[in-house]
This record gives sequence, structure tokens and C-alpha cells, in this order.
Amino acid sequence: MSAATLDAFVLARLCDGIADDGYAVVHNFLPAPVVAALALEARRRDAAGEFCAARVDRGARRSQRSDIRGDRILWLDERSPASAEVPLWQAIEALRAALNQTLYLGLFSFEGHYALYPPGTSYGRHRDQFSDDDARRLSCVWYLNDGWLPEHGGALRLYVADGDVHELLPLGGTLACFLADRFEHEVLSASRERLAVTGGFRRRE
Ligand code: OGA
Ligand code: MN
Repeated sequence: MSAATLDAFVLARLCDGIADDGYAVVHNFLPAPVVAALALEARRRDAAGEFCAARVDRGARRSQRSDIRGDRILWLDERSPASAEVPLWQAIEALRAALNQTLYLGLFSFEGHYALYPPGTSYGRHRDQFSDDDARRLSCVWYLNDGWLPEHGGALRLYVADGDVHELLPLGGTLACFLADRFEHEVLSASRERLAVTGGFRRRE
């Protein structure tokens, strides 16, 4: 898929969602073959030992706390993408351009990683902006799970407004975006392995 094939209508709908609600969900944002290739690439590199336990917090407080966060991650490198990752970076660039054009978010760069949650692991309620770093404006998650069913669990739970939550299953091809400073959220545990690319767009620092 090239950036040009990312439907202008889909991008416009996504921008509207963020403008109106602060978050947007697009199913089938990535075509199934792209999702399958990304999942294969992630699993190959996990098997090669390239993933490491995710950490929480920053600076001196940075630590591994599997009680809070149970995923293994591998950062993406934009300068040397695997061939499976090229369409993802094209989609990221199309998304960045559309968001800047429509919402003037001033998004400058993207940082992201694969995140693999073994069965039974989760990521407790948190915000994606750190108190000492507000450069991240918009969080994005692309799910890479084939044949996910509600009984597998593993929803993303967004705390949208006083007491209200929005829960989203991690279906392959689905993209979730939300304003990083606005929403607390958590990843519920699943009965099967849960794979995603997770990250966010940053402003120029
Ligand atoms: C994160 C996160 C949500 C998800 O990685 O910070 O909140 O659904 N991920 O994987
Ligand atoms: Mn998060």
C-alpha cells in the first residue's frame, strides 16, 4: 500500500473524530497482508531475542514493573525499516500530513515500537505523556492480531469522560488514536498473545 492509497475520506473521518472527541478508531486502516507481514516480522524478531521487557517511568524512576506493565517491546527504526514496515511508515507519514493540515497539531516526528503482551499480562491505567515531557501530542496503536474474539479479552480501555469508558478490541488492522494529554487508558489482560505497534507523534522540541 502506498500513502496515496490511504483513502482521503478515511483520513478526514479520523481527523474529525480527534477534533470532536479527542480520539478516533478506524477499522481496516491497514490492509490484511500488511498486518500479517508486520506480525510475522515482529514474531521473527521476538524469537531472535530482539524484544525486551517494557519499562515504566523515566529518568531515575525508570524501572521494570511487570505488575504495572507486562509487554515486551522493540522500537521501530525509521532509518532502516524492514520491508514489512515500509507501508506502515508510509501510512504514518500520510496520517501526520493530514493531521497537521486539518488540525494544525504541529506533529513533527513519530516514535513507536512493537508491543507483545503474553497471555495474562496487562498495562495498568496510565497517561502517555510524562510530567517532564509534553512533546508527545497524539498516541496511536495499530493492532496486529488475526482472528481476535471478544472472549480473548485484551481490550484497550479509554477513560473518555467522567466515569465513561470506551473499550476497543485489538483487531488486526484497527488503528486507535487519541490525544496523549487527554485520556487515561489501560490494556486489559488477554487469554492469548496480544500484538500491536504502539507509539505517538511528537511536536518539535
Ligand atoms: C501503550 C498503550 C494501548 C494498547 O503502549 O502505552 O497504552 O491498546 N497501549 O496497546
Ligand atoms: Mn498508553
